[in-house]
Amino acid sequence: MAKLLIRANGPLAGTIPVHGAKNAVLPIMAASLLTDEPMTIEGVPQVKDVASMIQLFDHLGIKTRLSEDRLEMQRVRAGETTAPYELVSQMRASICVLGPLLARYHRAKVSMPGGCVIGPRPIDLHLKGLQALGAVTSIEHGYIVATTPQLRGCSVHLAGAFGSSVLATGNTLMAATLAEGVTFIEHAACEPEVVDLANCLIAMGAKIKGHGSPVIRVEGVEKLHGTRHHIIPDRIETGTLMIAAAIAGGEVRIQRACPEHLGAVIDKLIETGVSIEKSNGSICVRSNRKLQAVDLTTLPFPGFPTDLQAQMMALLSVAKGVSVLTERVYPERFMHISELNRMGASITREGASAIIKGVDRLSGAPVTAPDLRASAALMIAGMVADNQTELTGLEHLDRGYEHLEQKLTQLGADIRRVGL
Ligand code: EPU
Repeated sequence: MAKLLIRANGPLAGTIPVHGAKNAVLPIMAASLLTDEPMTIEGVPQVKDVASMIQLFDHLGIKTRLSEDRLEMQRVRAGETTAPYELVSQMRASICVLGPLLARYHRAKVSMPGGCVIGPRPIDLHLKGLQALGAVTSIEHGYIVATTPQLRGCSVHLAGAFGSSVLATGNTLMAATLAEGVTFIEHAACEPEVVDLANCLIAMGAKIKGHGSPVIRVEGVEKLHGTRHHIIPDRIETGTLMIAAAIAGGEVRIQRACPEHLGAVIDKLIETGVSIEKSNGSICVRSNRKLQAVDLTTLPFPGFPTDLQAQMMALLSVAKGVSVLTERVYPERFMHISELNRMGASITREGASAIIKGVDRLSGAPVTAPDLRASAALMIAGMVADNQTELTGLEHLDRGYEHLEQKLTQLGADIRRVGL
């Protein structure tokens, strides 16, 4: 079994680049289903989720070629509109092929994504968007089946119980590009990954306005063409590296970053006592490890991202004072609390909040990552714990981070991967 052996090794120092955003590349790959022409995506991270999406694309008749961070895609077979369980169950993001398949072929059959350790992952907003565009949907034998004679422009309000939805906005947006007439998506997600998707669609010939705001206007066109698109930097990898530098201390410059995507994170880290310098395309974090407790709430963009909640909890575990961390996007996303407590943290859960009493030190222990972001949080905690931390469950880490442990080791951390 593969595991990481982590030991505290003093402050971090150096410069490190971030990869392209996992959560931008997956829907942008799905957008390539909207055209028969070749597509090239650059800045593609080498992560398991991209590999899983490539497998799905192979099944859907798209030939792919990945060399370093460039992915070339070209349709070689048309007409396959089913995304089967074996391929979809590995990755929730594959639901974003639903809108493009429906728009292109007027029919799509996509295996229902299952539950997930970070809490329930409903699909009602995906269906609402597509139904408003004129799709008839049903759930049959574990599959979402959507059909339509022709998608038509509409006004649709995509607010759910926990706010906007990133991938439901993406699905509706992609389907609307080939619908007849004008679509208004209200309460659209404003995340940078949605903006990147819209920019790629515009480069493919789509007519979109208002992306990045809660109301997106899409004027349907008959056809989209291929393009070359460079993916935005991964704000969650950037934030993870910033938090690692803050907790371990030292001075780290993160290159190819986009500070504008991380306003809430920068603000909170400064509140904990860390110094941050932003310049065009890079962020420098300086920390003397004297961290203060802060209260924070995760929210859709531009709020503090849920995908950095676990990593921030690891940091607050050793900050002076009591922090209250409230999760407003996935109120059940707290599986990492018990693992951090096994390392000596003092965290209790009250509904959708975690109360974190800062401790002087963490103690290394065998821990298992329950999900992707929790794996990074436990790695970061291990970097300031005494003795050795053994982290298993690396299949989660590898889904979304490209060689995170190597990057941290390059900055001075003591992390070794052993086993297979
Ligand atoms: N929701 C609904 N109905 C729906 C869809 C979502 O109620 O039909 C709810 C969810 O249960 C949640 C909230 O809306 O409470 C927001 O979920 P959202 O749909 O925005 O999540 P997503 O689009 O499925 C993406 C990222 C997640 C990230 C969230 C929130 C991808 C591939 N995934 O998921 O990333 O946490 O947005 O920012 O883009 C991760 O990278 O670790 C990860 C989980």
